[in-house]
Amino acid sequence: MSNLTFGIIKPDAVAKGHTGKIIDKIISAGFRIRGMKLIHQSKKQSEGFYAVHAERPFYGELTEFMSSGACIVLALEKENAVKAWRDLMGATNPAEADEGTLRKEFAGSIGENAVHGSDSDENAAIEISYFFSKLELV
Ligand code: RTP
Ligand code: MG
Repeated sequence: MSNLTFGIIKPDAVAKGHTGKIIDKIISAGFRIRGMKLIHQSKKQSEGFYAVHAERPFYGELTEFMSSGACIVLALEKENAVKAWRDLMGATNPAEADEGTLRKEFAGSIGENAVHGSDSDENAAIEISYFFSKLELV
């Protein structure tokens, strides 16, 4: 198991002013932030990022949303990072997210759900390298 994962504070959460509160919870949960930047993706960039979902019915909506505003991309370090970060995020659908999770507190809907997290060590490595060069990881 790797100690690195990749996260995004999505455009809905950034636009609503939740960035600081989410970063505070990430640090309080014991993650070390190895990389962080504010970006505004083009539609093409978000299509590339979510290419694994290209056949899903929500792909157009998802990539439209992810390129609709600024977001924060994060490289996060913690023991068993992929699972630890998904546990902190909560279920994809905020209606099903546990109390104390980021999606319970900050997500408005299944589509606009405040945060992203990698689903495997392999995808974490791919996703970190999509947004960060080696020099940008501290
Ligand atoms: P993520 O990749 O963003 O961390 O979320 P996830 O693993 O919990 O969920 P996934 O199945 O990978 O879906 C990716 C993102 O697509 C949007 N979605 N919309 N309208 C819908 O039914 C629907 N289902 C998924 C969400 O933004 C989800 O986070
Ligand atoms: Mg996913």
